[in-house]
Amino acid sequence: MKTTVIYEDDIRSWVMFGRDPAKSDSVIDTNQYLITHGDKGMLVDPGGSEIFPPFLTALSNVISMEKMESIFASHQDPDIVSSLALWLGIKPDMEFYAPSAWAGFIAHFGVGRQATPIPDEGMTLPLNGSMDLHTIPSHYVHSSGQFGLYDKRTKIFFSSDVGAALLPPSHDGIFVENFEDHIQYMEGFHKRWMPSNRAKNGWVKRVRELEIDIMAPQHGALFRGDDVQRFLDWFEALEVGVAA
Ligand SMILES: [Fe+2]
Ligand SMILES: [Fe+2]
Repeated sequence: MKTTVIYEDDIRSWVMFGRDPAKSDSVIDTNQYLITHGDKGMLVDPGGSEIFPPFLTALSNVISMEKMESIFASHQDPDIVSSLALWLGIKPDMEFYAPSAWAGFIAHFGVGRQATPIPDEGMTLPLNGSMDLHTIPSHYVHSSGQFGLYDKRTKIFFSSDVGAALLPPSHDGIFVENFEDHIQYMEGFHKRWMPSNRAKNGWVKRVRELEIDIMAPQHGALFRGDDVQRFLDWFEALEVGVAA
């Protein structure tokens, strides 16, 4: 599994894991993120149980499991968080945050306890004493209980499944290089898996108020610079909730 440092300063880093050439074709590719603050780490959407072994190996090359403080699950989908019991099996004292709407459902992944629920209006997630990671309500944009995660320090916005693209193996670049060309890999996903135009337009309005340098989705390439605004404009104009 590929390990890519997205951001690094003297105390904070973002590392992306994904694009595993050895991954089975039967599961769609996912981006997993590690945020570190000082020597402590938070997993952002730790992924499915299918990719747990290579991800654990890749993660262990960056940070010791001893230093992992928490897990954030943006919503309930299996590609987001079906690995949860495996992570908590290794380090049971990790804090685990998930949308309140899904806390009792995610417990069915066999974790033996419920998540610390994130209320619908969102909350700040602490990491090693820092208080600049803010969950951004994204309900009904994709899942009925869903959050993005905005890092005020680095201006990185983790957008969960919003902005996701299903890329062919030949497109293994970390960042979007040609937005117009990239649309073909996003369009079907956004029409089919985003159910509500009203929720979508509310999300766009909310996200436009954030200062974003990098928008990092859970699938596909990341958006940086002007491509963030290009995505917001494109998404705002798109009719979603279309199954045929
Ligand atoms: Fe999802
Ligand atoms: Fe997903």
